[in-house]
Amino acid sequence: MTDSDNRKQIKGLLKERNAILLAHNYTCDEVQDLADITGDSLGLSLEAAKTDAAVIVFCGVHFMAESAAILSPEKKVLLPRLDAGCPMADMVTVEGLEALKAQYPGIPVVTYVNSSAEIKAHSDICCTSANAVSVVRSLPDSKVIFAPDRNLGRYVASKVPEKELIFWDGFCPTHQRMSVDMVKQKKQQYPDALFVCHPECNPDVVALADQVCSTSGMYDFCRQSQATRFIIGTECGILYRLKQENPDKEFMLISPDAVCRNMKITSLEDVLKALQRMSPVVNVPEHVRIPALRALERMLAVPRD
Ligand code: 13P
Ligand code: SF4
Repeated sequence: MTDSDNRKQIKGLLKERNAILLAHNYTCDEVQDLADITGDSLGLSLEAAKTDAAVIVFCGVHFMAESAAILSPEKKVLLPRLDAGCPMADMVTVEGLEALKAQYPGIPVVTYVNSSAEIKAHSDICCTSANAVSVVRSLPDSKVIFAPDRNLGRYVASKVPEKELIFWDGFCPTHQRMSVDMVKQKKQQYPDALFVCHPECNPDVVALADQVCSTSGMYDFCRQSQATRFIIGTECGILYRLKQENPDKEFMLISPDAVCRNMKITSLEDVLKALQRMSPVVNVPEHVRIPALRALERMLAVPRD
């Protein structure tokens, strides 16, 4: 079957099932192209929470579909590829987090949404790359445990120096591969270009950035900027909309290696199959969902700085 057949069938089934197709900014171009809504983790969580659709088809990774299921228990959440996981989310275990909490009794846990529902359930409040600074700043405590991304944690610590952060030692392998040398090389090649970087990158890479932001923050920044060339420090999927929205501007990835395999495994065929079979469904048991929801709702209540 051709892509155009798949697209037609998917559109028909989305209507028939009263379903909405959400896709993260890193997914394949053809998936982003067909999605009802594309966005960063925060944007997609908000969309999942407010949609009237009966079914959410989530093109992204497992923790994102779980967040949708936590926020919308009355909806069916489909994750077309159950094997789309997040290596960073897998770097933290409940036992490990509880052991760290025991070392720092009474210190709140701020958890990046790139984590399992279980980890969220053992946390006080969640954050995304778009609101992590605001979330940490909003807490009355002077000490905070931050999990699982040590790089995002260090970025937050640099912006909120009045607080002490205790980091979980996790990272995103895709962003970790981006190096200072890669940035310097690209800057030498394109001296007029601005370097826009995701806070999941190493602190030494983040230190070279002209702008640090979430994936959706990058769209806003590059659209509004007077500059015409940008060096991009995040996963390659971001380029699809950046190029579409800014046909007169030029975008260079800092590395051709900036690919998250998990974000790329969902194809149009997978989406079609999921809608035909109404599976795989992502469920979060109530004893996990309720405390995880509390952590997500606390995050959603924090005003952006
Ligand atoms: P954001 O889109 O929220 O910036 O997240 C990046 C990411 O790594 C998602 O897995
Ligand atoms: Fe996880 Fe990194 Fe892939 Fe995002 S890009 S899903 S953080 S491995």
